[in-house]
This record gives sequence, C-alpha cells and structure tokens, in this order.
Amino acid sequence: MFTIIPSRIVAALSILCGVNFTAMAGDGVVDLTTLANYAAQPLPAYITKNNTPGGNLITDKGATLGRVLFYDKRLSKNDTIACASCHQQAHAFGDTATASTGVAGTTGRHGMRLSNARFAQEVKFFWDERAASLEAQTTQPIQNHVEMGFSGADGDQGFAALVTKLTAIDEYRVLFAMTFGDAAITETRVQLALAQFVRSIQSFDSRFDVGRAQVANGNVNFPNFTPQENAGKQLFLNAPPGGAGCQGCHRAPEFDIDPASLNNGVITQIGGGTDLTNTRSPSLRDLIGPSGLNGGLMHDGSFTSLAQVIDHYNLIPGNNANLDPRLRRPGGQVQNLGLTAQQKRDLVAFLGTLTGSAVYTDPKWSDPFNAAGELTLIVLPAEAVAIQNNGNGTATVACLAVPGFQYQLRSSTNLVDWTTVATVTPDANGVCSQDVSVSGTVFYRYAYTVPAP
Ligand code: HEC
Ligand code: HEC
Repeated sequence: MFTIIPSRIVAALSILCGVNFTAMAGDGVVDLTTLANYAAQPLPAYITKNNTPGGNLITDKGATLGRVLFYDKRLSKNDTIACASCHQQAHAFGDTATASTGVAGTTGRHGMRLSNARFAQEVKFFWDERAASLEAQTTQPIQNHVEMGFSGADGDQGFAALVTKLTAIDEYRVLFAMTFGDAAITETRVQLALAQFVRSIQSFDSRFDVGRAQVANGNVNFPNFTPQENAGKQLFLNAPPGGAGCQGCHRAPEFDIDPASLNNGVITQIGGGTDLTNTRSPSLRDLIGPSGLNGGLMHDGSFTSLAQVIDHYNLIPGNNANLDPRLRRPGGQVQNLGLTAQQKRDLVAFLGTLTGSAVYTDPKWSDPFNAAGELTLIVLPAEAVAIQNNGNGTATVACLAVPGFQYQLRSSTNLVDWTTVATVTPDANGVCSQDVSVSGTVFYRYAYTVPAP
C-alpha cells in the first residue's frame, strides 16, 4: 500500500541509478524533501481573525502528516471511510449528501464545510459547539460509532487499537518522526496534525476579495461588483430596519459566526424531531462551488438554495426558547424584514461573490493516495544527489533530504557490500553533506532507516 524510496546509489560524479519522480496531484507521491507550503501562505491584510492556539502553529511537516491522515480510510474500523469521505475538496470540504455516510449508518447532522475554519473568533466547533477546540474536535469522528468506528463501545475497539494499527505502518512512523522528532503515535499528535491540516485550508481568491483589496474599507461599493452585488452587500452589512442584519452574526470579511450567536430558528432534525442546540455556522464563504451549492444548508441540510435561506431570515418561522434575540422584535414577535423580491435577489447575488477557486483544486489539499489507494513517500530524491570533486583527493557527497531525519552515507567498491562511513543529519534546509576521500572507484549512497515501532 505504501512505498518508501529510502536510498539512491551514486557513483563518483554521476548518478548511477535512480528513478526520477515529478510529484503531481493524484499520483500517490508525497515528496518529504520538498514539502508544500502550508505554514506561510499569503493572507489578505484585512483577514485578522485566527483561532490557532499558540501550541499548535501550522508547520509544513505537521500539515503534510495531517493531509495523509485526513485522506486515509484506515482511520476507520473497516478501512472504508476517511475524513475526506464526508469532507470533500470538490465541495469546499463539505458534503452534498444531506446526511453523510459513515461505517455504521448516516450522521445525525449535515456535514460542515471546513475551508477557512481557522479564520474565526469562535474557537468551539460543531453546529452545537460541543468541541472546545479544533484539536479536540478532530478525533471525535474517529471515536464515533457511526462515522469511523473506534468508539470503544457498541462492539467497537477504542482509540488505542487505531494507534496500534497506525504504528504497524512504516510510513506513519516516518511521518510522525518527521513531524514530532520521534515515531510515537498518540491521540494528541493525531489531533495536532489533523488540526494543522484543517486550519491550512484557506480560500481568499473570491470576487469579494478582489473587490475588498481595492477599497479602504468594506462598507464602500466594490469597483468589481455589479450594482446588484453592491446592493446585496449593503443589505448584508446593515442592521434592520433597512438592512437584513446578517453581519450581526456572520461577520465580514471572514464571514465567521459571532461566538455569542444563539439559534437562528432552523430547529428541525434530520429524520424528524426538534433540535434547539445549534448556534454555530461554518464561514459563509464558499457556500457555492464550481458545481453549484456545496451541499444543503443548515445543520439539517434542509435548504437547497440561497433563496430559501433569505426567505427564512425574511420571516423567521417561529419563536423558540433558544432563538437569538436579534431575530426577535420588541414584544416578542419574530423577525419580519419585509424584503422585496429585488432585495432578496440582491442578497443571493452578493453571497455568490464569496466563492473562491484554488481551494477546490490546489494539490496540497488533495488526496495524496493514488487511485489504487497507494502512497509513496520520497525521503531521498534521486535527482538531488550530487557529488562534487574538490580536487584535493576529496569529494563532497550531498543530497536533499528531510530535515530532522538521520541518514547513513554508505560506500562500496563492488556495489554488493556496503559499509556505513558516516551518519549524517541534514541541515535546516534539508541538505545532507559529507566529505569523503576519493581513490580508485568507490560508490556512495545515502540510506535511511525507518524508525522501529
Ligand atoms: C461520516 C461522515 C464524517 C466523517 C467521516 C468525518 N466528518 Fe467531520 N463532520 C461531519 C458532520 C456530520 C459534522 C457536523 C456534526 C455536528 O455538528 O454534530 C462534521 C463536523 C466537522 C467539523 C466541525 C466544523 C465546524 O465548523 O464546526 C470538523 C472540523 C470536522 N468535521 C473534521 C473532521 C475530521 C478531521 C475528520 C476525520 C478524522 C472528520 N471530520 C470525519 C461528518 C463527518
Ligand atoms: C442571530 C444570528 C444570525 C443572523 C442575524 C443570521 N444568521 Fe445565518 N446562521 C446563524 C446560525 C446560528 C446558523 C447555523 C444554524 C443551524 O444550522 O442550525 C446560520 C446559518 C446560516 C447559513 C447556513 C450555513 C451553512 O453552512 O449551512 C446561511 C447561508 C446563513 N446563515 C445566511 C445568513 C444570512 C444571509 C443572513 C442575513 C439575512 C443571516 N444568516 C443572519 C446565525 C445567524
């Protein structure tokens, strides 16, 4: 299922043997010697909300491990369901099914889009905010009987069984050692890595962003918007009467949920019944994707168009004990905005400007496994091995490698018997470099030992 390319054989001044890889999306190859940029992605200056805790800043290594975990079906008890089964890149990491399918049935709430999860003031996760942090959230689906099935109850094994399962996989020991300095796999480390990957998923190349970058503040008309989109923006931002008051709970420019929000009057449950507990929404960015709506809206997935959403807020269908006061009027009546048909269309047009594009296709957030479910990790790339003759009886054998790993430089005169001549730790740029003396024909190669379980 996995392959590690552990070593390349090099002869004096030339590569004797090697396989050349150009890593591409979907080919099942992750080159650990040149990691994708997750840690230092450019952000617009006006994006300021960020729920990253000090103890879990995004790193390229951690997010790379998180990406593999996110797409690995072996995180479920019967190897059929990954996080990505329900959180799909093609839908801004949401699901078009109303209820998502897990290892033992379907979920009680609609799946949530995960793009831009990091850019919010609210630190709690799930529709009902029952996870105290993103880190705490990430292993709950694994420990859910319906979703991934390591619940430790109802006939499931517990999380310890998953740790044992992952520890037996060489490539996870490599990835955990790369990320954390040693190969131990723990629930905390799984949480840290998954949360880094999820927080890395950002989408700021929408038409809203193009416009916002051209103006001094978000309240003025955007030059790239149609008059209708600008009218919709104003309705979104302004409080009633006059405006629609959306900004009070979904705050531009992140469009994150106000942490103080109570419920919005959508109280039906998938499969029937009433649920008053939902007070969180994902960012309103990327409600729509390249193929239309990124799934039904609200915790029950019951709204299948933006027009239905606007109709809901235009006239809140009924009062309930947990309805946010902003959606009630003095005297206890529910909100009745009295929007015209034109104003409703303006709001829908504005919400359509919040859709990005790179998030749907960028390979760094894509499935690292190939179509056959295989993954190859490159820890020593063939094309980066070089020997430089120093001209004084020595040569420098250098190789691009993974910072933090230890490599062995081995030599041979017959390509059969190999002796370790040095143990080499790559520098901060991931370069292994070692001087050797040259006399006669000697072959060199770097090798890497997979950490023991
Ligand atoms: C079987 C489908 C399914 C699987 C598998 C799944 N999720 Fe989810 N996810 C959901 C549903 C449904 C919700 C909303 C549940 C709720 O609020 O009660 C959700 C919510 C979330 C949220 C909260 C988002 C927010 O804005 O509050 C995060 C984060 C998340 N999932 C990450 C993950 C990760 C990481 C994995 C893999 C370890 C995963 N999910 C596996 C269906 C799934
Ligand atoms: C009082 C706070 C509040 C106000 C005001 C408000 N919302 Fe919401 N919104 C929420 C909450 C809470 C949810 C999640 C509700 C649920 O699913 O149970 C939500 C969900 C949504 C969703 C679904 C998101 C998804 O991922 O499924 C959309 C779309 C939305 N709101 C748009 C709007 C618009 C447009 C306005 C203005 C007309 C608005 N909201 C006003 C609190 C509010």
